[in-house]
Amino acid sequence: MLTTLIYRSQLNSSCEPFSLTSLVEQAKLRNAGLNITGILLFNGTDFLQILEGTEESVVKLFHKIRGDKRHQCVVELLRDYGPRRRFDNVGMVLFDLQVESQKSVLASVLRYSKLDSYLTSDDRVFKFIRTFITQGKKSGSRKVYCPNNWKLEREHAPFGDGVEGLISNQICQFAFQPIVDPSEGKITSLEALIRGNDGGSPEHFFNALDPDRIYEIDLQTKAYAFALADKIGIGDHKIAINLLPMSLVNVPGAVEFLVESIAKHHLLPEQVVVEVTENEMISGFNQFNSAIKQLRAAGIGLAIDDFGSGYAGLSLLTKFQPDKIKIDREIITNIHRSGPKQAIVKSIISCCTDMEITLVAEGIEQIDEWCWLESAGIKRFQGFLFARPQLNGVGDIYWPQLTDSH
Ligand SMILES: Cc1cc2nc3c(=O)[nH]c(=O)nc-3n(C[C@H](O)[C@H](O)[C@H](O)COP(=O)(O)O)c2cc1C
Repeated sequence: MLTTLIYRSQLNSSCEPFSLTSLVEQAKLRNAGLNITGILLFNGTDFLQILEGTEESVVKLFHKIRGDKRHQCVVELLRDYGPRRRFDNVGMVLFDLQVESQKSVLASVLRYSKLDSYLTSDDRVFKFIRTFITQGKKSGSRKVYCPNNWKLEREHAPFGDGVEGLISNQICQFAFQPIVDPSEGKITSLEALIRGNDGGSPEHFFNALDPDRIYEIDLQTKAYAFALADKIGIGDHKIAINLLPMSLVNVPGAVEFLVESIAKHHLLPEQVVVEVTENEMISGFNQFNSAIKQLRAAGIGLAIDDFGSGYAGLSLLTKFQPDKIKIDREIITNIHRSGPKQAIVKSIISCCTDMEITLVAEGIEQIDEWCWLESAGIKRFQGFLFARPQLNGVGDIYWPQLTDSH
């Protein structure tokens, strides 16, 4: 199927100088052999390339180009399918905005393309080209994102080694995973993640329960999380718990129970954040709206978990603004490589800044993901890169440090 792929990247200035003309000459030959067409634009710091061909050949070539050390921060902007090529008479042409004016580059691109003027005004590919040509150098104004400047340094279990083995007389266990602010070098909260007594996942634990007792047990288990926080001595750190919102509605006196167990384990309500997933929030909002108010009245914080995984996240925010939003891992994974993901996260950051909602990026596994998000303005992170969940305690934390050469 005819595929069009557009990416943007930045010249790697720490790489040996090279001739762009000979790069393009070689590319032209190779692309002709692969039946790939397209153009390359360069403005002195940034590249924009359009590749057209069969999906297999375009994706394979892009994979190779992405690994080329002569450029960096390669971000895929579009991958689309269409009935015809836009540059079917061009193997590869370079447009250099350092030597030609914006106006003349725009005119030449149009001349090379098969698009007539009616199509171009509405054509998404052409819009990417026009934006690149007219907006000038971008990397100079962007906060630099340089994953290679960072390494991770281990801090041994900051709350001690936790509780030995499993805690007896409990129907489940908890694992704590820190949420960190690496720029401040501090833990901002600990999320309590439920585990079965066999170490099994939350799904496994809940599936094994009597369906009539799910909400009651969901609520009761939170007391174990508070007890563990007390036992390992979390001080004035916050603790985040996951709760099925219907547990607040269906179990009589649910909020009172939470408030009592928080006090019993020497915590303050203000230290506790209840996390509810976006989908649960949307499906039962009217039913548990009053329970939410009760939680807030008691001083307990609220967070929306997995934000962006559902279908109505933004409209949810018109009804209810939580203290905290955790951006779903699906959006976070490989964000440094994806233009659409970057655009979505930038808009979430802008919305949440205006509403003074704290953002957490969850599921961080790569230093590149953290670097991109940090440079976009996010400060709080959760994920295996920094710390794994540890049964009955808090495990080692890995803090980013600048390498010696920076
Ligand atoms: C900005 C940029 C654009 C490139 N475009 C192409 C291209 O269109 N076709 C191509 O074959 N190589 C292109 N290359 C070069 C490839 O990254 C790679 O060096 C080349 O395909 C040779 O790979 P090989 O030696 O592993 O076969 C480009 C490199 C850069 C930095």
